[in-house]
Amino acid sequence: MAVTTVEGIGSTRNGLHPIQQIMMENHGVQCGFCTPGMVMTMYTVFRNNPEPSQEDMERALEGNLCRCTGYRPILESFKKSCPCGLGLCQQSAEEKKDLAEKTTVEKPTPEKYDKSQDVIFPSELQKSTELSQKNAMFVGGGYTWFRPISLDKLLELKKAFPKATIVMGSQTVVGSKIRNNALPSPEIICCTQVLELKRIIQDASSISIGSAVTFAQMEEFLNGVLKDMKEKECNIFSALLEGLRWVGADQLRNVATFGGHLMSVGPHDLQTLMLAVGAELNFISAQKVEKKITYERFVENGIHAPDSSDVLVSVCIPLTKQNEYVLYTKQPFRRGMDYAIVNAGMLLKVDDKKGTIDTLRFCAGNIESKPCSLQKVSNLAKGRAFDDKLIPDVCDVIIDELKGCKSDSLKYKISLVCGFFYKMYKQIVETIQSTKEKTEFGLTPSLSTGAQYYDVPNPEAKEIVWKPIPHAAAKSLASGEAVFIDDMPKYANELSLWFVTSTKAHANILSIDPSAALAVPGVVDYVDYRDVPGSNMYGPMVHDIPLFAEKEVSFHGQPIAGIIAETREIARSAARLVKVEYEDLPLILTIDEAIEKNSLDEYVASHVSGDVDKGLAEAEMTLEGVIETGAQEHLYMEPISALVVPKREDKEMEVFVNTQESANCQKDVGHFLGIPFNRVSVRVKRVGGGFGGKALDTVEASGVAAVAAWKVNRPVRLIYTRSYDVKTTSKRHPFRAVYKAGYTEDGKVTALSIDLFANAGWNNGISTFVLELGMLAMEGTFDIPNYRGTGRTCLTNLPSNGAFRGFGAPQGTFIIHSIFYDIAKKTGLSFNKIREMNIYKEGDRNINGMVLKHFNLPICWEDCKTQSKFEEVSKEIEEFNSKNKYRKRGIAMSSCVFSIGYPFLFMCQAGALVNIYLDGSVLVTHGGIEMGQGLFTKMIQVAATVLEIPIEKVYISETSTVTVPNATETGGSFVADLNGGAVMNACQILKDRLQPLRDAMPEASWEQLVQAAYFSRISLSASGFYKSREIGYDPKKQGEGEYCLYNSYGAASTVVEIDCLTGEHQILRADIVFDVGKSLNPAIDVGQIEGGFVQGVGLMTTEKLTINKSTGELTLYGPGNYKVPGIKNIPKEFNVTLLKDAKGERRPLYSSKGIGEPPLLLAASVHLALREAVNAARKDHGLSDNYQLECPATPEIIRMGCDGPIVKKVDGIKENNQSIKF
Ligand SMILES: Cc1cc2nc3c(=O)[nH]c(=O)nc-3n(C[C@H](O)[C@H](O)[C@H](O)COP(=O)(O)OP(=O)(O)OC[C@H]3O[C@@H](n4cnc5c(N)ncnc54)[C@H](O)[C@@H]3O)c2cc1C
Ligand code: FES
Repeated sequence: MAVTTVEGIGSTRNGLHPIQQIMMENHGVQCGFCTPGMVMTMYTVFRNNPEPSQEDMERALEGNLCRCTGYRPILESFKKSCPCGLGLCQQSAEEKKDLAEKTTVEKPTPEKYDKSQDVIFPSELQKSTELSQKNAMFVGGGYTWFRPISLDKLLELKKAFPKATIVMGSQTVVGSKIRNNALPSPEIICCTQVLELKRIIQDASSISIGSAVTFAQMEEFLNGVLKDMKEKECNIFSALLEGLRWVGADQLRNVATFGGHLMSVGPHDLQTLMLAVGAELNFISAQKVEKKITYERFVENGIHAPDSSDVLVSVCIPLTKQNEYVLYTKQPFRRGMDYAIVNAGMLLKVDDKKGTIDTLRFCAGNIESKPCSLQKVSNLAKGRAFDDKLIPDVCDVIIDELKGCKSDSLKYKISLVCGFFYKMYKQIVETIQSTKEKTEFGLTPSLSTGAQYYDVPNPEAKEIVWKPIPHAAAKSLASGEAVFIDDMPKYANELSLWFVTSTKAHANILSIDPSAALAVPGVVDYVDYRDVPGSNMYGPMVHDIPLFAEKEVSFHGQPIAGIIAETREIARSAARLVKVEYEDLPLILTIDEAIEKNSLDEYVASHVSGDVDKGLAEAEMTLEGVIETGAQEHLYMEPISALVVPKREDKEMEVFVNTQESANCQKDVGHFLGIPFNRVSVRVKRVGGGFGGKALDTVEASGVAAVAAWKVNRPVRLIYTRSYDVKTTSKRHPFRAVYKAGYTEDGKVTALSIDLFANAGWNNGISTFVLELGMLAMEGTFDIPNYRGTGRTCLTNLPSNGAFRGFGAPQGTFIIHSIFYDIAKKTGLSFNKIREMNIYKEGDRNINGMVLKHFNLPICWEDCKTQSKFEEVSKEIEEFNSKNKYRKRGIAMSSCVFSIGYPFLFMCQAGALVNIYLDGSVLVTHGGIEMGQGLFTKMIQVAATVLEIPIEKVYISETSTVTVPNATETGGSFVADLNGGAVMNACQILKDRLQPLRDAMPEASWEQLVQAAYFSRISLSASGFYKSREIGYDPKKQGEGEYCLYNSYGAASTVVEIDCLTGEHQILRADIVFDVGKSLNPAIDVGQIEGGFVQGVGLMTTEKLTINKSTGELTLYGPGNYKVPGIKNIPKEFNVTLLKDAKGERRPLYSSKGIGEPPLLLAASVHLALREAVNAARKDHGLSDNYQLECPATPEIIRMGCDGPIVKKVDGIKENNQSIKF
C-alpha cells in the first residue's frame, strides 16, 4: 500500500502543487487546520478524473468540514481557476468575462510548479499484485492483525480464534474498540482482500453482492449496469444508488463495505432498504456450514450474525420484476455526510389483473435501534385501489404501529414516516397512471456560485495595505508544513495527561481512589487539587473556578484529577479506572428551572430610556411575546491543546498552548504554580480556529498540564479529545427574551420592554458582559423613545458558557429583528418598511452612548435591497409559493450594528516589537493571536507599508509573552486595530530613526540602509505601543460616555426554500453588503464575512445542542452528531459586497474597521426567511402566518411548523424525550 499525504505532493521548498497554490491564491485558507484535508480531497478528485464537474467537486468536499471559510473560496478555487499544468480549467470563456467584471482580485504570480514533482504511484506496487495476493499477518500494539486473501484461510483463522473480530472498513464502533482495547480477543481478521467476499454476481432474478464490496465499488457497478437495463428492472438499482449516494461521504464510501454496514448495530441506511426488498444473507461458519437467512429474520433475531463465528459472505437482492416498484429515501439532519433522522424503503407489487395493490412492504429506520417493517401497513394496503384514499388510512396505522416507540422527537419522526409513505406512494401511482404533471417533492437541485465586489487600489500604489494579499502562512498550511501543537515533535522524556472527570452534573465528592489507575503499566503519576502548589482557583473577574474540583462538582465532565502516563492511550484508559464516589445534589439545567429556583446571578443589567410604562400604557397597540435562541458549540477544528515544558533552571516553565489569551494563561499558570509571571513564557504559533472558545478554556488546559509537569518535572502534553472538548468547554449562551411592545397603527414602535435571561452554566464567569452586549445589540439599531431592558444570568449545572463570535450580539440582533417581525405580522405592514421607519438617523445618539456619525447602516440596507433585487424576488417567491404545495420559499433581510472597542479602557492598549536584521529582513511581534482571521497578514501589510518595503521582507513567527508582555486577549473584532496601532508605532519609530540616513543616501537600497544604520550604531529594534482614544461607559449612568470606539454596519438579504414534508431547507441566495471602512485586506475581510455568516447559519438552523435531562450530560460529542454547516448547506448563490466609498472619520489604522464577528449577526436573515417560508406553508392550511419558529430552525422545527394534515394526526402522540435543548 502506498499513502500519499499532503506533504508528499508539494512543499514550500520545492514548490507547491497547483492545488495547494490555488487554495492559497483564492483565499481558501484561514486557520488552515482543515486545509490539508481539503487539498487531498481535491487532489484525489483530479487524479481520478481530470475533468470533474462542479457536482463531482461539491460531492467530494461533502466529507470535509471547515469552520472558518464558509467553503465558498475553497470551492471557487477549483471552479474558477485552472491549476495550470493539469489542464483542468473549469471556466468557460463567458464565465471568465463575467468574473472579470464582478471581481477585482489581484492574483499573486504563481510560483513555478515543477510537474516532475507530481507524485507517481510507486511502480513496484503498480506492476505487482504480489503483495495483495498473499496472506499477511501483523503483530503490534497488543494485537495480531490477520489479512487472509481466501475464504478458506479466513475460516481457518475463525476456527483457530473463534472470538477474533472481523474487520472491513472499520468505520463503526469496531474502530474505537480497537483503539480502546475493548475487543473480546486480541485477534483481528481483516477481510477486505478475501476474493470470495469481493464478488458482485448478477443473474436473471437477483444480484449477489459480496460482503467486502465497498460502497464506492457498488456505486460504480450499479451505474455501469443501469445503462443497459429496462426502466422497471432498474428500480432496485436506482433505490440502492439513492441510498448509497447519501451514506456518509466519498471518503467513507471508499472504505466502508456493504457487509460491515449490514452487520453493524444500526440502524443504518441500507438496512432499511434490504428489509423492504426482502434481501437474503449468506453466511458460512468456521466449520464451512453455509446458512441462508432472510434479512427480516436476521433483524428480528438481533443485528449480529446468527452465530458469533459466522461470516457474512454475500447479500442476495432480488431484481425488480415488471409489476414491482422499489423506492428509498432518507432525511438527514443536514444534507451531506449525515446519518438519517428517519429513512424508509418501499416495495410495491401491482396485481396486474385487478389493477390493485398486491403487496406493499413499507419499512422505516432510525425510529428504534433496528429498522422495522410496518406489517399493519402491508395488511391494510393489500387489495386496495391506487387512489388517494389509502393515504390517510395508512397514516393512521403508521401512527398506531409506531406511537409506542421509545425515541426522542417521536411526533416528528412519525410525521416523516407518514410523509415518506405519501411521497413514495404518490410517485408510484403517478408512474403507473402515467400522470403528465407529476407532484414535485423535495428541494430544487442547484450548485453553488457567488460573487465578491470590492475595490482594490492601483497595483502600482506604494501602500501594501488595502490589497487582497493571501494569508501569510497559506503556503505552509496548504502544504501541511504548518505546525500545530499536536504536530510538535515529542520531547525525549515527555508524558501525556488525561482527565478524571465528573460523571455527575451536581454532587459532593465523597472519595477518590486512583489506586487501580496507578497500577497500570505506563502510568507515572496522578494529580488533583492537592498537587497544585499555588492557588487552585482562577477566573476572569473573581477567582471562583477550581482547576481541579475539590469537594463538589458542578457540571458533568468537570475535571477532578489527572492521570500522567507514558502515552495518551495509557493515560486515557487508566483515567477510567479512578474510582470517585459521589453524593447527588439537586440539578438545575434550564432557564425555566433557574428562574423557578431563583438560581440567578445577583447582577441585574438595566438599560433605560424614556418612560416605558407610560409609553406602553399610551401605545395605540401592544404586543407581547417570547423569543429564544439556542446554545452553540465553537467546534473549532483544532481541539484545545497544551504542552508545558519545565526548564532546568529557576522554576522556568515554557507553555505552548493554542490560546486567544496568552497573557491570561501566563498569569494563571503563575498563580497555579505559585511562581512569578516572569518564569512563565507562553508561546502561541497559531490557533486552529478559536471563535472565542479558546479563551478561558485554554487556561484550564495550560494550568492542568503545568501542574502535572511541575509535579513530575517532565514535559506534559494535553490534547483534548473532540468529545471532551465538545462536552465540557464553554458554549454560546442561550437567551430568552420576554417582551412587550407598544406601537402605532402605522408601525412606529413607541415603547419596548424586554426581560432578558441568559443560561450562564454553572459559573457566571463573563456571562454578565455577554448579556450586556446582547442588550446593546438589541438597542443599537432602532430608535425607540421609551425603552427598558433588564437582564439576568441564570446559574445552572452545565459547563460555564463564555465568549463566542459576536459575544451576545448575534442573540440580541436576532431577538430585536424577530420582535419587529412579530409586529409586522400583527399589523400586516411590510417587515422591511416597519424596520426602515424605526431605524436611527444620522446624528442620533443610541442607548449605548454612541453618536451615530457616519451612520452607514441605511446605505448598506438600501444597497443590499438593490443587489438582492428584493422586491422582484419577493414577487417571484409569491408566485412560486402559489404553485407549489410541498415546497415553499421565503425571503427576508436583516441588519447589524456592532460596537467595536472595549468599554474597559485598560483593554484598549497593545504592544509590539519590531526587529530589523542586517540582511534587511524584519521580524514583527505583537500581542495578537493568529487564529485564521488573517491578523498576521494584516500586521505584515501594516509594517511593510510604514517601512516602505516589500511584504516578503516582513515575517511574524509567533505570539509570545516574552517579546510582548501583558497583551489584551484576541477578541472583540478589535485586535487588528489595537496591534496594528502598536506595529505602526514601532515601525514609525524605526523609520524616523533611519530617516537621516535615508536623506543622506537617497539611492541606497533598504538593505544598504540597514547596514549603514548598524555601522552608525542606530538601534534596529523598537517597541511600539498603542492606546485608543478615551471612551468609557457605565450602564448605571445612562446616556453618559460611549460604549465603544465605532460601529460596524452590515445588511443581508436571504432567500430560502423548504421541503414542507420533511423540514429540510436550502439557502438559495444570500446577499451581503458590509461596511468595513477602507478594508485593510479585502480578500481576508470577504473571507471573514462569508465564514462568519455560515457560522451564523449553523446557529440559526442545524446546530442544536442537547442535554440528557436526567444526568445533565451533553448528548453530543463531535461533528458526527453536532451538525455544523457543510459544503451542501451554504447559500447556493452567495454575493458579498464591501460598501464602496464608505464614509467615515479617518480611523487610526488606515481607515479600516474590525470585521471578525459582526457578519455572523446577519444570519438572522436566514431564520427570518425560513419563518416566511413556514408561514407560507401554514397559510395553505388556513393557519396564522405569525408562527414562532424556534431557533435553531432544525428540520423538525420547520416540518412541525408547516403543520397540515399529517402534523394534526401525530399531534396526540405522547413524546418521551430523554434529551432537552441546551
Ligand atoms: C463519518 C461516517 C459517516 C457515516 N455516515 C453514515 C450514514 O450517513 N448512513 C449510514 O447508514 N451509515 C453511516 N456511517 C456508518 C457506515 O455506513 C458503516 O459504519 C459502514 O458501512 C460499516 O462498514 P465497515 O466496512 O466499516 O464495517 P466494519 O466497521 O469493519 O464492521 C462493522 C461490524 O460488522 C462486522 N462484520 C463486518 N463484516 C463482516 C462479515 N463479513 N461477517 C461477519 N461480521 C462482519 C464487524 O465485526 C463489525 O462488528 C458512517 C460512518 C462514518 C464513520
Ligand atoms: S480554515 Fe478550515 S477550519 Fe479553519
